[in-house]
Amino acid sequence: MNQAHLHQIIALEKQDPAKPNEFEKFFELRLSTNLTIIKDLFFSLYPEESHTAAFKKLLHHQLPTLFKERPAPLKLLDLSRSKQRDWYQSEQLVGMQLYVDHFSKDLKGLENKLGYFEKLGVNFLHLMPITPRPKGENDGGYAVNSYHEVDKRFGTKDDLLKLTEKMRDKNMFLMLDFVANHTSNEFPWAKKAMAGDERYQEYYHIYSDRTIPDVFEKTLPEIFPLTSPGNFTFNPEMQKWVMTVFNQYQWDLNYSNPEVFIAMLGNLLKLANLGVDVVRLDALAFMWKKLDTLSQNLPGAHTLIALFRMCLQVIAPGVVFLAEAIVAPNEIIKYFGTGPLKGNECEIAYNATLMALLWDAIATKKTMLIYKNLQDLPKKNEEASWINYLRCHDDIGLGFNDRYINEVGWDAKHHRKFLLDYYCQNIEWSPAKGEMFMYNPKTGDGRITGSCASLLGLEKALEQNDAAKINQAINKIIMMHGIILSYGGIPLIYAGDEIGALNDYSYLKDIDKKEDSRWVNRPYQDWEIIAHLDSRKTYQSRIFFGLRQLIRLRKHNPVFADRNNLVLYDGHNPHVFIYERTSDKNKGVLVLCNFSESPQSIAEITLDSYGSIANTKDLISGRAITFVDGTLELKPYQLFWLSKA
Ligand code: GLC
Repeated sequence: MNQAHLHQIIALEKQDPAKPNEFEKFFELRLSTNLTIIKDLFFSLYPEESHTAAFKKLLHHQLPTLFKERPAPLKLLDLSRSKQRDWYQSEQLVGMQLYVDHFSKDLKGLENKLGYFEKLGVNFLHLMPITPRPKGENDGGYAVNSYHEVDKRFGTKDDLLKLTEKMRDKNMFLMLDFVANHTSNEFPWAKKAMAGDERYQEYYHIYSDRTIPDVFEKTLPEIFPLTSPGNFTFNPEMQKWVMTVFNQYQWDLNYSNPEVFIAMLGNLLKLANLGVDVVRLDALAFMWKKLDTLSQNLPGAHTLIALFRMCLQVIAPGVVFLAEAIVAPNEIIKYFGTGPLKGNECEIAYNATLMALLWDAIATKKTMLIYKNLQDLPKKNEEASWINYLRCHDDIGLGFNDRYINEVGWDAKHHRKFLLDYYCQNIEWSPAKGEMFMYNPKTGDGRITGSCASLLGLEKALEQNDAAKINQAINKIIMMHGIILSYGGIPLIYAGDEIGALNDYSYLKDIDKKEDSRWVNRPYQDWEIIAHLDSRKTYQSRIFFGLRQLIRLRKHNPVFADRNNLVLYDGHNPHVFIYERTSDKNKGVLVLCNFSESPQSIAEITLDSYGSIANTKDLISGRAITFVDGTLELKPYQLFWLSKA
């Protein structure tokens, strides 16, 4: 039983509905429930001998002050969320990720677009960073000048508060980023450090010569080797070296200083108080550094995240964490918490493994690697859930294990090269139109960028004006979304993908963006196209209404809530991916998808061995399925959601 369970038991025992004058009492109860864990985590990062004062500051000052600052409507929401602990696992949640300026110009504009989300069935929004950032290069806002102010280009804080209030009224959810690993070099702490204030120099990893940086460099990998090689940047004002693992203007925070943790907890709460339901913990794998290691996924990072989690739970239990850990599959799962911290770290994580494997299956037209990887992953704990996604603002990294590639009979090095060639326009016959990101000729490693539709062949098919290929690309787009909508977790559609947005090459003309091909898949929302979705039979409307139908079906089937009720089945056909979202009421849904451009069949006897499929109908077409000569045929890129009639 994790801590959230304990809070649920306590909250359910108390009066209903909770009254404002009871808020304090619940805060005290939560604090006493989490206190021992908070103390143990804190002192395991910051040895007790020298850090008792910092702990007292956290306990007696920071936690109660932050709780006082939490607005009453959110305190009320916190209590109801405590009672309904698993709200983020509901089948009702369907998400969209977007850049406010590219989508609706600003926050007021976004408020006017809420009807669009409702029409599609989206009720969970991830807004890309809206906080102030340096002019010029700023990593799409991931270099932050403040954690809780609104950058002028998006409007004002009041606009945001109005939007979140309206979203709450409509039962919509909001996710914002907490860029916890680093600030920009314009952040007030960085400015003070630059001006020579030693207290603030301790907030970052700053060294007066290269001795320690050189030792770090021996083991630290490079994140952006082409645009930001190395992990340290010389700062002329201080005449010192600053750790900058991402870009040179992103300074890594030094969490081995407890003052940083305490101050960042304040920033986290200020962000949550804007009306955030899910906090996306950006680049959290990097938060703890240690000489002679990769400084990724370290035990210290897990302790630190759990400490944030346990403190946030005391102050704002209605807010949950998403782990943005795009790391090896076995490492991702650890962000749900392991051992005594099981269930006490992040509630949600990006399912980057599934995402990368789906792109692998598209390119190879085979599903063996999906099975190999997924079957070997430890089952996540029951409180945990995924964000399932196909595309986002970042590149696609091929983050699966070489061992599995070799085990299915492919050469890992060649296979990875094939994937890069397939997606990055190095193979004539490939329908995909993507771009290379951070290709390292020394190692042959690279990542892939491009919009969902362009990677799935729509852009090329349109250029060739080939109706059959256009049709095939649409089917792929719908099938791929059908997987993220049924897999278990929150499906997160990337804005534009619901209307088949193609690559946007305009970034090449922008000096601050042209070196970063991730901008190719950060398109502007095309409202002209959207205005005609109902009246015109375009590829955009086919995709939009195709996805809308799947979203509706998802929301009508509680079996799609994430109850760890996913079972993978082997269909004895290397092109087909099959899984069931099981239900103890014999109302499970069997999902089948064909990753091949030719029809594929599955034997009735195989399907039957997974439970009786008599009286089964496909929810998507609404028709009963038929077997011909004892086999079920799947058309190219066809998706079935089979359920008892
Ligand atoms: C995350 C973001 C990415 C950003 C990085 C550094 O990975 O998704 O866009 O560059 O963090 O903040």
